[in-house]
Parts: sequence; structure tokens; C-alpha cells
Amino acid sequence: MRDDHSGFSAVRTAIFPVAGLGTRFLPATKTTPKELLPVLDTPLIQYAIDEARDAGIERLVFVSHPSKSAIERHVMDDAALRATLCAKGKDGIAARLEADALQPGDDVVFVMQDAPLGLGHAVLCARNHVLPGPVAVLLPDDLILGPQGCLSEMIAAYGQIGAGHLVAAEEVARAATGSYGILDVSRRAGAVSSARGIVEKPAPETAPSTTAVVGRYILDPVIFSDLSWQQAGTGGEIQLTDAIARGIARVGLAGFTFSGRRFDCGSKAGMLQAVLHVAGLDPECRDVLHGFGRNRLVTAA
Ligand code: UTP
Repeated sequence: MRDDHSGFSAVRTAIFPVAGLGTRFLPATKTTPKELLPVLDTPLIQYAIDEARDAGIERLVFVSHPSKSAIERHVMDDAALRATLCAKGKDGIAARLEADALQPGDDVVFVMQDAPLGLGHAVLCARNHVLPGPVAVLLPDDLILGPQGCLSEMIAAYGQIGAGHLVAAEEVARAATGSYGILDVSRRAGAVSSARGIVEKPAPETAPSTTAVVGRYILDPVIFSDLSWQQAGTGGEIQLTDAIARGIARVGLAGFTFSGRRFDCGSKAGMLQAVLHVAGLDPECRDVLHGFGRNRLVTAA
């Protein structure tokens, strides 16, 4: 883990569920895992790993599938590739690869989810591999960019709250509630919204609010026993939302409004927005983007 992180954090483990089928991105995801799709030149999983390391996470647990071994190859260091790059004078990119990669001495676990039985089931697969205390869960296809990492912000807020489940939350259009877990908010105080309930994908007319849960969670360890009792829910999958709901009476639930911008990179539109956003910040791409915009205007005129 990063040497420059000096703060104490009780959230020591990050779980990365990466075993899904990625059907919305087929055929691209037939052989390339969704989590390795790039935003320009950086795969989604790399952003999530960087966010977790910046937040001071000690152990990284990847819940993957045997057909997605490319994820492990990306995540771990490749000394032979770096040596080849250096021999060709490409020391800059070799150094970046080394900085990005997890090293054999790092606290990294790969556990397999043999069938895509749902996000809740994926988290349950990590049960025997986590360090004591609350765990973070990061969904790499929700890319969150901003001056401060979303997980760092959430861990700071969790330190104030002290316990329970804390989920990243974002306001969505009422018409969109059917695509999200939605919080039944009881009280709002700054960035933290206490919730008395959570409903998976409610219709707009029955949604208890428009405060949606997105892909970052800090979960009290009761989540594992609650998941182990969980029956398959919506879509025949074991839903994380249902197990979170089950724990509310005992440990509480709150939503956290993060400062960054979220891109739903599990969808084509969200991925396109992310690529355009990152390209706009990249000097190499900015001119292409502006030129493309100008050409489009000329063509349309
Ligand atoms: P998604 O539902 O967005 O991913 O899960 P998906 O099922 O792979 O994609 P679509 O909807 O078919 O396009 C969010 C995260 O949870 C993981 C996915 O890999 C993704 O990172 N996941 C999902 C699992 O690890 N296991 C599962 O059974 C389901």
C-alpha cells in the first residue's frame, strides 16, 4: 500500500466484484472483461484500485471468474514487460506500469465466483478473505472522478458515523429510479442522509425518494451473515440491496453524497461521457475533441 498514507482507517479491506457477464457491452465483453474496458488508455479496474489505495485500504479482494483471468494479469506487476519496455527506451511507461501494478508482496486476494449469481453473492464469496471490521465494496464500472477519491470521502464520513452501512448516494431523475437501489430517507444532514429503508429498482410512482445508491459501499460485517440467509431476489440473483435492507434495524443505514462526478461506465452512454470528460482534460486529445465539435457544426450547417 502507499507509503504516504499516514492516517488510521478502520476500513481495511476493499472488495472488487468483477465476475459479472457485462452483457450490456457485448460483443466487446465476449473476450475482454468489462472491468478492463479503457477510458482512453486506463482500464476501469485501475481507477478503482487507485481509489482504494488512496483511501488507505490494506487488503484488496477481487471476486472474479475463471474466464476473466486477464483482470489478474492486468492488476499484478509484469516485470518481463517492464524490462522489454526499458530495453526499448520506454522507461516512462514502464515506470507508470510499475506504479499502477500490485506487487507480489502486496495484500491481494483473488477469489472465484463460479457463476454470476448476483452482486450480493459476489460479496459473500469474499467473506473468508476479509480483514476484521467494516469492508469497502467498489464497483469498477461506476467511475467516480473528482479532486478527492469517493472512498476516501466515505471513510472520513464513516469515522464520524462510527458504524453501520454507508452507501454512496446520488440524486437521479424520478423517471430513472427503476435502474437503481433507492433510499427511503428519514433525515438529511449535510452529505449524510440517514435512511430507514432501501428498495431495489422501484417504479417512479412508488419510489420513496430520488436518492439512488451507486457503486461504493462501506458495509458493517453483519452483511456477511445477512447475505448467507439471502434468497435470490430480482432477476434470480442474490441482491446486495436486500441484505443491506435486512441489517438496517440492527446497524443502521446512511447515504453519502460524494463531491466527485460519477460516470455509469456499465452503459454505452456513460462510458462515452467518461471518455469525453477524460479526453477534455488530456492535452493530447483536447484539440481532437474541439476539432471534432467544429467539424460536426460545419457538417450540420
Ligand atoms: P453489473 O450488474 O453492473 O454488471 O454489476 P454485469 O452483470 O457484469 O453487467 P450487465 O448488467 O450484464 O451489463 C456490477 C459489478 O458487479 C460485478 C460485475 O462484474 C460488476 O463489476 N458482478 C455482478 C459480479 O461480480 N458478480 C455477479 O454475479 C454480478
